[in-house]
Amino acid sequence: MKNIRHFLTELDLSQAEFKQVIQRATQLKQMRNRDEDFTPFKNKVLAMIFEKSSTRTRVSFEAGMAQFGGHAMFLSSRDTQLGRGEPIQDSSKVISSMVDIVMIRTFSHKIVEEFAAHSSVPVINALTDEYHPCQLLADMQTYLEHRGDIQGKTVTWVGDGNNMCHSYMNTAKLLDFKLNIACPEGYDPDPQLLADNADRVTVYRDLNEAVKNSDLIVTDVWASMGQEEEQKAREKSFADYQVSPALMKIANKDALFMHCLPAHRGEEISEDMLEDSSSVVFDEAENRLHAQKALMEFLINASNS
Ligand code: CP
Ligand code: NVA
Repeated sequence: MKNIRHFLTELDLSQAEFKQVIQRATQLKQMRNRDEDFTPFKNKVLAMIFEKSSTRTRVSFEAGMAQFGGHAMFLSSRDTQLGRGEPIQDSSKVISSMVDIVMIRTFSHKIVEEFAAHSSVPVINALTDEYHPCQLLADMQTYLEHRGDIQGKTVTWVGDGNNMCHSYMNTAKLLDFKLNIACPEGYDPDPQLLADNADRVTVYRDLNEAVKNSDLIVTDVWASMGQEEEQKAREKSFADYQVSPALMKIANKDALFMHCLPAHRGEEISEDMLEDSSSVVFDEAENRLHAQKALMEFLINASNS
């Protein structure tokens, strides 16, 4: 039996593998910048299942597979039988029998776990309500490119204890950094994850306190996909949790700012935050392409070996 490797959370890779993938991502980026032809996946097909909206994830996976010489197929739950209730396990068996790798963006994390359990090819989590591990590959690649090794550094997460926050908690454990979480009461991350990472993760209610001595500040929207009806209530709860150039001054001198995007200027970030000299958000967004190419290469090769 083949050993199929999936990427459902960061912890599906070892520390060494995670580092290997982000280093490879930088290499693939340099190769693309040199216009080098690198098409190891001719005739390979990536199925991309989207149950939520996307710009970066769709464009980066589809462009990445095309650059590798393969093909990417966009499947929306609206137009497939998945949207009409075909069981996940049946869909997984069928789709994975015809393609070489699958990525899924959906609501419950259980859906990607069930899909992976029945898949004969690697499955990538392209965002669930609980985790967004592909974004963490890009973020860690970006930190490495701008500042070097993140081990021993302090990262501050600002805002909701959401999927991105959970992914930062996993990555803090994997890459050995300290994580401060500045969030209002009622929006803490998963209590089990907090308990499991109590040695390196600290929750703050005071944003300024959290940001002191930090090397990287990260935030995200106040209402994630699926929480649109909570937008107004969340605007009130999160009003004191905005990242701005003034806040960045409290952090360490060479601290970076990241945001997975899309961003809401005037809410979680000030109008001028994305253009601040500390902001690397557009490198971070571009790195989704390179990081996921490295991830697909790793999973396909590891699953065939
Ligand atoms: N950051 C991110 O995943 O963006 P999209 O929702 O546009 O894919
Ligand atoms: N937390 C956000 C991330 C979007 C990339 C969401 O889930 O909508």
